Amino acid sequence: MLVQSSPSRRGCVSLAAAIVVLLSSRTATQQLRCSIRTRRHTPDFLTTSLPRAPTLLFMRHAQSSNNGHWYRKGILGLRDPPLSAAGVQQARRAARALSHLHVDLVFSSHLQRAMQTAALVFGTRVYVAPYAGELARTGTSCFFSPGICAHTRAAQRAEMGDVVSAQMNWSLVGGEDGRNDDAAMGPPSLQHFLSWMWNQTLVQNILMDKGANATIALVSHGNLLEWEALDFCWSHPTNMEVYSTPLMKGMRLPLKDVNVAYEDD
Ligand SMILES: *[C@@H]1O[C@H](CO)[C@@H](O)[C@H](O)[C@H]1NC(C)=O
Ligand SMILES: *[C@@H]1O[C@H](CO)[C@@H](O)[C@H](O)[C@H]1NC(C)=O
Ligand SMILES: *[C@@H]1O[C@H](CO)[C@@H](O)[C@H](O)[C@H]1NC(C)=O
Repeated sequence: MLVQSSPSRRGCVSLAAAIVVLLSSRTATQQLRCSIRTRRHTPDFLTTSLPRAPTLLFMRHAQSSNNGHWYRKGILGLRDPPLSAAGVQQARRAARALSHLHVDLVFSSHLQRAMQTAALVFGTRVYVAPYAGELARTGTSCFFSPGICAHTRAAQRAEMGDVVSAQMNWSLVGGEDGRNDDAAMGPPSLQHFLSWMWNQTLVQNILMDKGANATIALVSHGNLLEWEALDFCWSHPTNMEVYSTPLMKGMRLPLKDVNVAYEDD
């Protein structure tokens, strides 16, 4: 039997249809914009011998003990978690895959999972930097978002062990016994990190020396990178995902020219 839909039902149907059209046209616009700016998996610096600008590599840390356990989210997460065993393996794989790159300077956030990742991936001195920590969905209190709050530097050294600790250099953020809180390290902000970075003599010397051949790396965090560095075409960075972008003064966020340089399988 054919059922005639009532006027009010027809109203609902056309409202639903309108919503579907609206949503799909939004998705279509988004897809168009995203396909114009496609994710290229082979960054310039791997294919051309004469880069036009220095390179900034920025990456999310490898899997942490919080990422490795579904129940360690928000309140139930560990404060300043170290890498999980799987995270250590991810960082080692990335180290092998990126071993042909010459990285001139490595920065890390002041949180252990980033510091450990930087040490394992680059095997060189790691400068702990301000403004590069994690942003939380659950507010800025350490109780609700333990993963955004760092232990003291002495506690971090004890937990990371001598080998990783020996690679860390805290000279740009108040020294080995300096404070790791927001007042000393600044609240996370990539724009602030970038303007701080340009002010560093170390960075200026490398750029004078190497010009467009210089490569600087930053190991940071998923939300900070997703919300500030990447535009809306990008999804949340996976553990150990590495991006590259030309390093230019006055770079605006979100970054316009981003390639994926490495993804863990
Ligand atoms: C940290 O880096 C600075 C600047 O490069 C250097 O002078 C200092 O010796 C380093 N400190 C340690 C403990 O390696
Ligand atoms: C960088 O240096 C300029 C000029 O000295 C200063 O105004 C600015 O506050 C510095 N930025 C950061 C983030 O340190
Ligand atoms: C950059 O690398 C190219 C190719 O190796 C080299 O010819 C050029 O001199 C280098 N530039 C600087 C400033 O070191």
